[in-house]
Amino acid sequence: TDLDRFIAGLLKAELHLHIEGSLEPELMFALAERNGVTIPYASVEDVRAAYAFSNLQDFLDIYYAGASVLLTEADFHDLAMAYFDRAAADGVRHAEIMFDPQTHTDRGIAFAAVIEGLLSAMAEAEAKHGLTSALILSFLRHLSEEAAFETLAMAEPWLDRIAAVGLDSSEIGHPPSKFARVFAAARAKGLKLVAHAGEEGPPAYVYEALDLLHVDRIDHGNRALEDEALVQRLAGEGMTLTVCPLSNHKLCVVGDLADHPIDHMLAEGLKATINSDDPAYFGGYVADNYRAVARARGLSREALVQLARNSFTGSFLPPEAVAMHL
Ligand code: HPA
Ligand code: ZN
Repeated sequence: TDLDRFIAGLLKAELHLHIEGSLEPELMFALAERNGVTIPYASVEDVRAAYAFSNLQDFLDIYYAGASVLLTEADFHDLAMAYFDRAAADGVRHAEIMFDPQTHTDRGIAFAAVIEGLLSAMAEAEAKHGLTSALILSFLRHLSEEAAFETLAMAEPWLDRIAAVGLDSSEIGHPPSKFARVFAAARAKGLKLVAHAGEEGPPAYVYEALDLLHVDRIDHGNRALEDEALVQRLAGEGMTLTVCPLSNHKLCVVGDLADHPIDHMLAEGLKATINSDDPAYFGGYVADNYRAVARARGLSREALVQLARNSFTGSFLPPEAVAMHL
C-alpha cells in the first residue's frame, strides 16, 4: 500500500535494539548446529510457538536461553550482519545497538569475541549499505553493581568504540539507583548514558534515571505518562524516549496496539521515536513497528515524519551528521 511504501522510504535511525534480540529462529538453529549446542526446540515453528509472553520476565527467560547458541566471534558477526541487512531494507541509515556482555561472559565467552564480532559487522554494514552504527554496552540490572563494574572494566580496551552504556533486563525490584555509581564512572569516561525505565517500572524509576543516572535517553518510558509533572519535565528537557510498539504489545505493557500511546506522547510534546527492541521475538523490525502502530492509531504522515526526525535528533551522531540526515 501507499502507507507501506511511505514508511519503507522514510529514512530513519534505530535507537533501541538489543542485538541478541535479533536472533531469528533460523539462525538459532544454524548456530546450534555449527556449534554443537543443544536447544530445547524441535523446529523453527516450535521456537516461534514458544514466543507467547505475558510479561517482561517471561520473555527474558527465553531470550537468555536463545543466546546460548552464540559462542564465537563469527557468531556475533553473523548475528549483527543479519540485523544490518534487515535494517537497511527498512530504511535505517543509522543504528545504535545494545549488547549484553554479561549474558555471554557469564557463560565463559570472551568479551573480545563478542565485541570484535559486532565491530566487524558494523564496518561491513557501513561499506555494504552506507549504514552507520554505534554500540551501547548494557548492564543486566538483575545482576549486582559489582558485576556491572567488572563489565565496564572488561570493556576498557574498547572504550573508544563504545558510544554509551545502558541498563536492561528485569526492571521491577532493580531501580536505576542500584547503578548510580557505575553510571557515574561511565560518564567520567566520556560515555553517553541510556536506561530502560518505565517499561514495567513506575514513574519513580524514570525520575531516578534522570536524577541519579543523568541519562541522555530513556528506553521505553511508557509509564511516565502516569505522572503529568514528569511528562512536562521530559517534554521540557527534550528527552528522547525510545518507544517500541510491538514489544509493548507482546510484553503486555499495552493490552492492545489500538491503545498504544505513541500519538499521545507526541501530542504532549514528548520526543518519541519508534524502535523494534527485540525484533526476532516481537514479530517485526523497525518498519513493521511504524506500520503496525500507524495503522492501529491512524497516524498522519506528519506524525511519521516527526518520529523519523526524532530518531536522528535523538541519536548520538555528531550535529553535522544529524543535519545531513534531516
Ligand atoms: N526490557 C528489558 N530488558 C530487555 C529488553 C526489554 O525490552 N529487551 C532485551 N532486554
Ligand atoms: Zn529494550
